[in-house]
Amino acid sequence: MKKRIAVLPGDGIGKEVTKGAIEVLQAVGERFGHQFYFQYGLIGGEAIDAVGSPLPNETIELCKQSDAILLGAVGGPKWESQPTHLRPERGLLKIRKELSLYANLRPTSYYASLAESSPLRKEVIEGVDMVMVRELTGGLYFGKPSERTRKNGEDEVVDTLYYKRAEMERVIKLAFQLAKERKGKVTSVDKANVLESSRMWREVAESVAKEYPAVELEHMLVDNAAMQMIKKPKRFDVVVTENMFGDILSDEASVLTGSLGMLPSASLSEDGPYLYEPIHGSAPDIEGENTANPLAMILSAAMMLRLSFSMHEEAEAVEQAVNQVLEAGYRTKDIMTFGKKPVTTKEMVEEVKATLMDNEAIM
Ligand code: NAD
Ligand code: IPM
Ligand code: MN
Repeated sequence: MKKRIAVLPGDGIGKEVTKGAIEVLQAVGERFGHQFYFQYGLIGGEAIDAVGSPLPNETIELCKQSDAILLGAVGGPKWESQPTHLRPERGLLKIRKELSLYANLRPTSYYASLAESSPLRKEVIEGVDMVMVRELTGGLYFGKPSERTRKNGEDEVVDTLYYKRAEMERVIKLAFQLAKERKGKVTSVDKANVLESSRMWREVAESVAKEYPAVELEHMLVDNAAMQMIKKPKRFDVVVTENMFGDILSDEASVLTGSLGMLPSASLSEDGPYLYEPIHGSAPDIEGENTANPLAMILSAAMMLRLSFSMHEEAEAVEQAVNQVLEAGYRTKDIMTFGKKPVTTKEMVEEVKATLMDNEAIM
């Protein structure tokens, strides 16, 4: 198969892990006889420096003409004092909105080989298998009025949490659809004891649930969910929630796997193209060290193979290679247990590629 992939490496370790994922995709192409065409676009701080905008129109066009998009991460201290509309993060929000990527899937699963890397006890995390479905194009991130109310430095500010019923409905439906194919349970997370928007969210969840009698629906307040997620994570199957709650809870969920550097994501729209990115950021604290964990990005590429290209065998081959490399004891610094020597980003990528190419069992 021939596929066009838009590649937006972005800033900081985004660049480092994207390079790794591309190499793994090239290995997949070689191994399975596919042609992947990679076309690079600017986003984030790099785009601000080059052309004065965090998301140039050329990048939007490139994405729209591609079969799928792979994005590293954006942001960094260099651009922190920029006005909000000229921050790298704006580029990320804009591409999500431009492509109507309303549902962000963030799976968290247990890796037996990483049990020691999590600060949580093995009994707590063993067997965890959940997917966070985060609403991605609404809520506080996109409400108006917003920061512009402070353009003259006033001592008042407003951010608006705005949703239309249809926006809630489509993402909640997707969560039920997913649960139907998984363990049959949806946990809808909100703050209905305080927020009007959450009360509507609950109402919508109840009405969608009627269309899925085989799926169990539970409601949970977000503060309790944050606690349950580390106390009893195995109780969750599909978690669906609004934009900001999902952002916060998914970083927390990554601790169940062992590291933020392990969690991939897929952002879906009605008609595509879909976008794939790790959930972590540009990690300025380790930028340029060659120590970043590339697996979240590599696993995002595997999600792309499965969800955008229906290359199921290929996706499994990548996931299996990652598993084998971890089982063989290779660890970047973030998942390293005490007293052992970590591998670099590049070495980890090499191991995944070598395993993928050598693995007879995969074919
Ligand atoms: P971060 O996710 O970049 O880093 C948080 C911590 O996790 C850091 O200690 C970092 O070193 C570590 N970490 C993250 N990814 C890792 C990996 N692959 N391997 C090893 N360690 C890893 O979050 P932050 O520090 O709060 O934000 C830094 C910048 O990134 C900010 O500008 C923020 O806006 C941006 N950001 C971007 C995205 C994105 O592009 N999707 C996501 C989150 C944060
Ligand atoms: C993420 C990030 C982004 C978000 C930021 C960088 C805008 O934290 O993708 O999780 O909050 O959505
Ligand atoms: Mn985040």
